[in-house]
Amino acid sequence: MKLFLDSAEIEEAKLFSKFGVIKGVTTNPKLMSDSFGKIGKQTTNQSNYDISGTSKDAKSSVEERYSEEINHAIEISKITGTKVSVQPSSYDYESIVGFGKLVFKNRNNLILKVPPTFESFEAVRYIRKNLGFIDVNLTLCFSVNQAILGMQLGVQYISIFVGRLEDQNENPFEIIETVKCLIESQQLEEYGYMNSYISENKEQECSLDKSIALEHKNTEIIAASIRSSRHVRESFKSGADIVTTPGKIIRELFNHNLTDKAIKSI
Ligand code: E4P
Repeated sequence: MKLFLDSAEIEEAKLFSKFGVIKGVTTNPKLMSDSFGKIGKQTTNQSNYDISGTSKDAKSSVEERYSEEINHAIEISKITGTKVSVQPSSYDYESIVGFGKLVFKNRNNLILKVPPTFESFEAVRYIRKNLGFIDVNLTLCFSVNQAILGMQLGVQYISIFVGRLEDQNENPFEIIETVKCLIESQQLEEYGYMNSYISENKEQECSLDKSIALEHKNTEIIAASIRSSRHVRESFKSGADIVTTPGKIIRELFNHNLTDKAIKSI
């Protein structure tokens, strides 16, 4: 059970990393744009840029802005001492590969965050094949189907959007529960293969054990698009490994009127 900070604000990163409750950070183009807006910088999100088919100058300007966003995320990573998920603002193949290469260079601090599209999957495969392994956070997931695809790609994180699902009267927690079940059964299956390999090689006898299989897990569920402390509780209860939440909700988690009263009276 881990809490991530869903923010691109340097000041929030500084504040919450003091308390030992932040185990990771997620950003997106909107959060980057808000944070850059506050410090008077422009971001790729403001121009809705598509690298493909553009002039050389335009390409280098978007690359420049991408690297500013990457540097900003690295700064947050250093402040929090955790990895930061970063997302490109255009989703054509060329843009994702370009952005992914920058993330790859800084893979000790960053995680590539992409939506479940043909272009993203192709770009991730290209990067992994030609540069090397890169952690991926599959974002904008609204269904079990999309999570199944993420598991095929071998992503580290599947982000299920709680608030946006509830906005259209779908139950995000049922989706989290089902995806959790699928991940666990995949781990058992993988452990089963490993187990029979070990037995065949007569090195060690062991039985299928769920707790051991769980140690071999490699895909984690992130509950994202969190709007309330109820979302945090329900997400963890349904099996989310991680909940990524705005600073406002972390503050809410600290609060209870009886704590305030007791602090004043005890
Ligand atoms: C995190 O990874 C997501 O980008 C974020 O939680 C989205 O939140 P929203 O649905 O409020 O935009």
